[in-house]
Amino acid sequence: MDFHEALNWRYATKKMNGEQVPQEKVDKILNAIRLAPTSMGAQPFSVFLITDQEIKQQILPIASNQTQVKDSSHLLIFAAWETMTDDQIQEYVDQTAEERELDKSELDPMKKGLKNLASKSKDEFFSWSARQAYIAFGFGLAAAAVEKVDATPMEGFDNEALDKLLGLREQGMRSVTMMPLGYRDEENDWLAPMKKVRRPSEKLFIKNEVPELT
Ligand SMILES: Cc1cc2nc3c(=O)[nH]c(=O)nc-3n(C[C@H](O)[C@H](O)[C@H](O)COP(=O)(O)O)c2cc1C
Repeated sequence: MDFHEALNWRYATKKMNGEQVPQEKVDKILNAIRLAPTSMGAQPFSVFLITDQEIKQQILPIASNQTQVKDSSHLLIFAAWETMTDDQIQEYVDQTAEERELDKSELDPMKKGLKNLASKSKDEFFSWSARQAYIAFGFGLAAAAVEKVDATPMEGFDNEALDKLLGLREQGMRSVTMMPLGYRDEENDWLAPMKKVRRPSEKLFIKNEVPELT
């Protein structure tokens, strides 16, 4: 299945069948998330992997009882950071210098840029870091489709309650999205037979349109 067939195959699965996704497929999906581009390469988010059925049951009511939470094989929770500490910035600079065999001083502009971001308020930083998390989230969804693993993009949950359950605020993070991975229960999923609905290309893509110069 090529990439475009995979994108047509995938859909926001509403009912999963509880089957386990093989670890090698999960690893490929996680690697796509890890390889996603982010601003300055900072990857200012963490992804929690939940496989424990009891924890999923606790998350279920927080996610309006959307059953994919409990019927998934792996539940991924994307949490964006509220800031980057000096230690986190230094760790990133050191790793980059080592892996690219650079002098650390060559990375001063990058370090300055990150420190500047980190000096912003928690809300401002989170607004930036959440956008980075969404890029990785998209990569994960696409990778799952290529692996023929169903994945539901989910924002329909109580962020504050989930942050509380997972102790995210104490760790300087806030939940952004969830991605249950599993397999569709084709017979019982009302959405499975439905056609994909998308805006027509002519409306979505605007070609060479600029206002007249006066
Ligand atoms: C960021 C985001 C949040 C979403 N939240 C939910 C959700 O909480 N529950 C759900 O069943 N679907 C959710 N969806 C699925 C969308 O409704 C779905 O992707 C859209 O209608 C397009 O359909 P398709 O993904 O099946 O192609 C979400 C999608 C995105 C991208």
